[in-house]
Amino acid sequence: MKNSYINEKVVLSKYPSGIAKKENFSVIKEDINNISKNDLLIKTKFIGLDAALRLLIRDSDEFLFRVKENDILHGNIVGEVVESNNSDFQIGDYVVGSLGIQTYAISDGNGIEKVDVNFAPPEYWLGGMGIPGLTAYYALLDICKPTVDKNVLITGAAGAVGSIAGQIAKICGSKVFGTTSSQEKCNWLINELGYDYAFNYNDNDWFLKLKDASEGKLDIIFDNSGGEVMNQSLKIIGMNGIVLLCGSTSQYYEDEMKGPSNYIWLGTMRARLQGFVIFDYENRYNEARLNLAKWLKEDKIKMPNYIIQSSIDSFPSAFEDLFSGKNFGKMILKLND
Ligand SMILES: NC(=O)c1ccc[n+]([C@@H]2O[C@H](COP(=O)([O-])OP(=O)(O)OC[C@H]3O[C@@H](n4cnc5c(N)ncnc54)[C@H](OP(=O)(O)O)[C@@H]3O)[C@@H](O)[C@H]2O)c1
Repeated sequence: MKNSYINEKVVLSKYPSGIAKKENFSVIKEDINNISKNDLLIKTKFIGLDAALRLLIRDSDEFLFRVKENDILHGNIVGEVVESNNSDFQIGDYVVGSLGIQTYAISDGNGIEKVDVNFAPPEYWLGGMGIPGLTAYYALLDICKPTVDKNVLITGAAGAVGSIAGQIAKICGSKVFGTTSSQEKCNWLINELGYDYAFNYNDNDWFLKLKDASEGKLDIIFDNSGGEVMNQSLKIIGMNGIVLLCGSTSQYYEDEMKGPSNYIWLGTMRARLQGFVIFDYENRYNEARLNLAKWLKEDKIKMPNYIIQSSIDSFPSAFEDLFSGKNFGKMILKLND
């Protein structure tokens, strides 16, 4: 290795209760003087902020992955190869992968992908071209199958997954409804992303307005938020409707996570609740990316990123901001050079 490096990594210092705060995390420095045969060293350029991280830092073994106290936080990054002992990766290549919240990462190349900047700029590989875009693509097109005659509700509509999902449903010709947390975000969904209707779930009458606009029929509920928004929406599920459980962000930081009490409407409407995990589609990512990149080039889709430029010390406050809904699209921390 030509140079030595100082890595800064964010670790969990204390399990959070409620929304995770700055005091739950700390930044630790370590020297990197060597990498093994076949390894590469990656300098992090962009860090994706993922709501699901809050599930992993619970003091519980209920979930498949978990981060324990003093462990590095899991997270997807895009970075540049700065040293390489691996012939598949050259210095200067951009890569994307789950390499943790840190300024430098060592990898043997397994589980990471090269970023093709001909498709889209590097940071897009954390949003529209990355896991959120792929999730929106396959959950909608492979499972929900929106068509011209369908009403589609996207909860968490202004987030990384929701912002892409709504646009794909529009491409399919459906009538698209979204929920989010402010009037400003509602306006953005309609004016920037082409949603037909958007509702602020903090307004008391949001559900009545949704019911009215959809004429009481939702064929597809693409649920990112869970909680009361999803629960109310079940009352107007259409005949043979589908409720796609993409995520349940509103529950991730609750000590006691709650499911919907209005499930009974699914019975009479012959509707189904459907789970989904994007990793099942790993060998089809490229197929989706070809179409997503084509739509991007043809201006049929936007891939909105909400970029904060700062040092890695800002990760905890950015993560807190994600849960107060500051982001329009994918929240990304762009590290200072
Ligand atoms: N199944 C899969 O394979 C898969 C893959 C990727 C992601 N996901 C899941 O999909 C969901 C969306 O992910 P994302 O990356 O697109 O996140 P995101 O929506 O970009 O960010 C989180 C959003 O959640 C909303 N939120 C926060 N607290 C809330 C609350 N109490 N009630 C309702 N909404 C709340 C906020 O939007 P508002 O301002 O609109 O409230 C915030 O912007 C997450 O639950 C994630 O875990 C699943």
